[in-house]
Amino acid sequence: MTNGSTILVTGGAGFIGSHTCLALLDYGYEVVVVDNHDNSSPMALERVRKLAGRPLTAYDVDMRNRDALDGVFAAHPVEAVIHFAARKAVGESMRMPLAYYDTNVGGTATLLRVMAAYGVQKMIFSSSCSIYGNALRLPLDEDSPARPTNPYARSKWICEQLMADACVANPKLSVIALRYFNPIGAHPSGELGEDPKSVPNNLMPYLAQVAIGRLDKVTVFGADYPTPDGTCVRDYIHVVDLADGHRLAIEHLTDETGLRVLNLGTGVGVSVLELVTAFGEVCGTPLPHRIAARRPGDVPELVADSRRVERAWGWRTTRDIAVMCTDAWRFQQLNPTGYGS
Ligand code: UD1
Repeated sequence: MTNGSTILVTGGAGFIGSHTCLALLDYGYEVVVVDNHDNSSPMALERVRKLAGRPLTAYDVDMRNRDALDGVFAAHPVEAVIHFAARKAVGESMRMPLAYYDTNVGGTATLLRVMAAYGVQKMIFSSSCSIYGNALRLPLDEDSPARPTNPYARSKWICEQLMADACVANPKLSVIALRYFNPIGAHPSGELGEDPKSVPNNLMPYLAQVAIGRLDKVTVFGADYPTPDGTCVRDYIHVVDLADGHRLAIEHLTDETGLRVLNLGTGVGVSVLELVTAFGEVCGTPLPHRIAARRPGDVPELVADSRRVERAWGWRTTRDIAVMCTDAWRFQQLNPTGYGS
């Protein structure tokens, strides 16, 4: 696909979506965003426009609204879609599983049907390492068995199977499912970052809000896991590296048809306590924390084997944990109450 092509980005105002829109604009693509702002702010797109110095078209549309999606495809020469729009909180998914299947699975099915109606044959899908569940063997490559442990993860796994079936039925379809590990960090400008609408579920935005004084202390969910310091280990990846992975994926959509599944991670495991310490070093004060019980649905350790994407596209991450914390802290300082400030 060449620069100048139009890419439709669902969930483009979200954390990963906004950074990816910026990467696409910087590479000369035209970008159309569909987002219902359920967990995102239109302000993020204003910032993307400003940073890119280029326009971007945005629609306030829910993924499950087929007629509205239809109108977007009718108005733009869409060549490929990047599909981020989804619900993503693990704990919430255990309380309201049907909402997760409705938005994540229903939204993906609707999108594929509208794409088919307009002859759009290329899609990148926002998948998740949570599909691997409780890992039997580390690091996790793409052939590791899928053993999702919660409805959020299961919804992503179902979407992958749904897309595989769609590719069998339509041999012209090319889909790349990118299984992200734990995206954190922010754009180095401090203008784009993670801005959860309520109390953060995820560790990094929680640390940032403790550091800025919006929250009292970090709760560490479990210190009795079979890991070196007893806390969970994750593979954190800088959101700008991840956005660049999507931009590269766009270029490779034309390589072959069918469904391809690729991990995007760093291969480096970092424990909860190590991340708490790293963030404290960056912001200049150790963060107060307390050890509490395990969080239901958590698994001890998830670390990526990302050699497949490196071999295929030469993609590898360049930003380490210190950069991830520095950039997240800059965004938090410049936007103490997120995009609302
Ligand atoms: C989960 C999903 C991941 C998804 C992400 C998006 C799994 C295994 N992973 O990541 O695929 O992309 O949500 O929401 O389902 N923690 C604390 N205190 C806190 C918050 C978190 O100790 O206040 C711990 C958690 O127990 C976990 C680690 O920090 O061990 C990371 O948690 P989090 O940032 O929520 O991400 P995951 O649950 O790994």
